[in-house]
Amino acid sequence: MTAGRPFTCSVFIGTSLDGFIARADGDLGWLTSRGEAAGGDLGYQEFADGIDTVVMGRGTYEPGLTYDLWPHEGKHVAVLSTTLEEGADPRVTVYRDLDRLLRGLAERGTKSVYVDGGQVIRAFLRAGLIDEITITTVPVLLGTGLPLFGPLGGDVPLVHLSTRVFGAGVVQSTYAVERPDSRPSPVLDQGLK
Ligand SMILES: NC(=O)c1ccc[n+]([C@@H]2O[C@H](COP(=O)([O-])OP(=O)(O)OC[C@H]3O[C@@H](n4cnc5c(N)ncnc54)[C@H](OP(=O)(O)O)[C@@H]3O)[C@@H](O)[C@H]2O)c1
Repeated sequence: MTAGRPFTCSVFIGTSLDGFIARADGDLGWLTSRGEAAGGDLGYQEFADGIDTVVMGRGTYEPGLTYDLWPHEGKHVAVLSTTLEEGADPRVTVYRDLDRLLRGLAERGTKSVYVDGGQVIRAFLRAGLIDEITITTVPVLLGTGLPLFGPLGGDVPLVHLSTRVFGAGVVQSTYAVERPDSRPSPVLDQGLK
């Protein structure tokens, strides 16, 4: 339970070292090839087992339609979009804006949300809605592309929770967003584990 809403919101996303989540044309080969070289699922299944709802933007939903398998079986999937036709895909619920989405999720009894897509993650961050961020960084600089982060309207203080180093130079760090009302115990430098 988080102040003002009955569910937690977490990010689990892969980026280049310079902070891009896709090339400008949506290409993800630079990420998936290095993820495969690292081996295993990089903790994704464990993360996915802990969430009941996926929220994504149209920019993430539409490329996902080309995958062989629907990756969110058993989860409620909410897509934020002002343009997608509502009801066209029975696997997802389309929400037109953040307010309606938050109301809808609360009414459904949502407990834990996976927030995906760069624009949507930034909207959640600006609204103070993100609780935890796991970023898997692959060793490449793209120089340009679709960013993960952008203007926030204020600092977002983070508490480092863990860092894991996988094969192929893939590094994954998890942070909690520090809340004014939370008093995190001092985090000792845990180093890389
Ligand atoms: N590296 C990774 O792990 C990773 C993860 C996820 C996605 N991706 C990639 O990232 C790209 C997509 O990211 P993105 O930042 O371009 O887009 P995105 O956040 O997935 O989607 C953006 C779209 O969502 C809708 N939207 C966003 N905020 C909204 C709001 N507050 N209210 C209503 N609608 C809202 C808008 O759709 P309308 O224009 O219809 O209004 C907007 O164009 C894709 O290439 C995807 O494959 C990579």
